[in-house]
Amino acid sequence: MLVEASRSETAQQAEAPEYDLRQIDSNPNFWYPVAWAHKVRPGKAFPTRYAGHPIALIRPEKGPVYALEDRCAHRQVPLSKGLVEGDCIKCCYHGWAFDRAGKCVTVPYLNRSDVGRPVRAYPCREKAGLIFIFPGDPALAETVQVPDIAQVGNPEYKTRQFGPRLKCHYTFMHENLMDMNHQFLHRRQMGSITARFLGQDKGDNFLEARYSFARKGGNQPLAEALIFGKHHDLEGREQPVEEVVSIRTTYPYQTLKIHDKDGDLIMDLWACYVPLGSDQQGTQAFGLLSVKKPKWGFLLDLAWPALGLFTHRIFEEDREIVELEQKAWRELGGDHNVEVFPIVKALRALLARGGVPNKAARPLKKG
Ligand code: FES
Ligand SMILES: [Fe+2]
Repeated sequence: MLVEASRSETAQQAEAPEYDLRQIDSNPNFWYPVAWAHKVRPGKAFPTRYAGHPIALIRPEKGPVYALEDRCAHRQVPLSKGLVEGDCIKCCYHGWAFDRAGKCVTVPYLNRSDVGRPVRAYPCREKAGLIFIFPGDPALAETVQVPDIAQVGNPEYKTRQFGPRLKCHYTFMHENLMDMNHQFLHRRQMGSITARFLGQDKGDNFLEARYSFARKGGNQPLAEALIFGKHHDLEGREQPVEEVVSIRTTYPYQTLKIHDKDGDLIMDLWACYVPLGSDQQGTQAFGLLSVKKPKWGFLLDLAWPALGLFTHRIFEEDREIVELEQKAWRELGGDHNVEVFPIVKALRALLARGGVPNKAARPLKKG
């Protein structure tokens, strides 16, 4: 027994990140959502950013959206303030015009196309109501898949979008969702339920944890009953909840899926946490939540606002906590977490492996 315990401890230490996790930047060699597609209107430009890099998304009247560095090559004013003309964006200051490759095609007051410098163009895709860019090495963009997202486009599901901004490092968000042991935080919204860890799967770039839940007291919230169906009252006895909740981080994305007792997928959440500033201590989350339509689809339409409110309230509780964690990190000058749950330790190791230590990151002292 003793030998086994020390072996598993050594394995866990081997998995521990070498750097403070909050000094691990997100890996730019993936596709990241940077805007909801409907916000980038035809004939307009839209400002956004990834990890401190300003980005202009440009949607010509005809043709696909494209992404350029949001700084004019002339005097670095935001191109997103300019005019979209044909397939080009014309800077608002002196009218230099840039095409979708970022090439300056005209400097109008000299009537020349060969004097202006280019701006950086980012590979850009539109999928599932989101605009993605590839902020890393553009040569790799074609080799990396744009992720599949929840059940967007599947007529059997209704999908809602949500996009909160959070004052915390993206890694806190992964940990928060994966760690279902924090249901205590949500006791006012969910009643008293406890998570039971069922098992895990892991690979080089992913980790999945599965849980079931048991209700120990309090009433089942209405919105929860609408998704899962009403659980019968067992007169004070612990009430098993037969759904299985699977949370998976496939770097850098995260999903939460709920299957009912027949194995049907009844809820499917996809999320990506995109760093905003160069210190990566602010995050723009993009989430899509698909809920299976019941036999009478209009019931879900009726319940939709209540469901939105329910998920919003739970999310606001999570927001407060992850922002407080970030505040403590800042005040203490580093990560003092004492993590004891193996799945969260494994997740921290995955996030450390997947990301890139920032310039300030110093290796953690061992022992
Ligand atoms: S600053 Fe853009 S054209 Fe001069
Ligand atoms: Fe939570």
